[in-house]
This record gives sequence, structure tokens and C-alpha cells, in this order.
Amino acid sequence: MKLIIGSDHGGRNLKEEIKGLLEELNIAYEDAGCDCDTSVDYPDYAKPVAKRVAEGEFDRGILICGTGIGMSIAANKIKGIRCAVVSDEYSARMSREHNNANVLALGERVVGPDLAKSIVRTWLEAEFQGDRHQRRLEKIEQLENEG
Ligand code: RB5
Repeated sequence: MKLIIGSDHGGRNLKEEIKGLLEELNIAYEDAGCDCDTSVDYPDYAKPVAKRVAEGEFDRGILICGTGIGMSIAANKIKGIRCAVVSDEYSARMSREHNNANVLALGERVVGPDLAKSIVRTWLEAEFQGDRHQRRLEKIEQLENEG
């Protein structure tokens, strides 16, 4: 699996923790920034991560900001992206099994590093269940095409 990870200044510390986990799990990743402590705008980091997942260059993306909310709103503007902002393991699993989420958004100011790592592990391991869930995703795709 190839993964791309990005954050704004509000998610940068948690991003470092998650990168450590990805290394432990032997998952190849690219860090799309930010790498500064000064204030940046989260859509500038959500956009390239979401686009590169949507275009198939990466299988999955992880986006981190203060709450995960801004990143998820921005990422979901990109066609083909199903980004779920998650703060518990159950939702992490469901976002894969039912929603086939290809981007995970986390909030550094919402979840602690241990919970965040457990969420990422769960999200990486869970598989999309297809079947009736596929039909529902196709309806979401139709919404995207209606504009
Ligand atoms: C930055 O202060 C903060 O607004 C951002 O990290 C994020 O939480 C937005 O949703």
C-alpha cells in the first residue's frame, strides 16, 4: 500500500506520531507537508493529498489538522474522495467496511496520540465489504456527477 499524509500546523505533531507508526508497520508513505510551525491554510495541504489519491498515485491518504474537520471538508470537494473524520476505532472500521473511505482525517486537538495510532491501525486493516454498500457509494458518485 502507498500512502500520502499531510497536515497543517495544528496537526503537525500528530502527523509525526503517525509517521512513526507507518514506519513500524512498514507502510511506504510520502509526507506532503506542512513542515513548519507557522500558521498555514489547511486546504492547501488537503488539495494535493486528495488529488493524488483520486488520481491513483496513492492508495490512501491521511490528513491531520486541529479538529480534522477542515481537512475532511476540503478533501471531500475532490471527485472520487471519500474522506471520513474519525475520533474512535469503531467509526474508523466502519468508514472502511461501509464507506470505503480512501482518506482519513484526524484532529490533533481531539484525539491523543495513542488513540490516533489505534484509529489508523484499525483503518488500515479494515476492508470494504462491497455488496449493498457499493450500491450506496454509486449513489454518492451520481451526486458528484450531478454537480
Ligand atoms: C487551525 O487553527 C485550525 O482551524 C485547523 O487546524 C483545523 O482545525 C480546521 O478545521
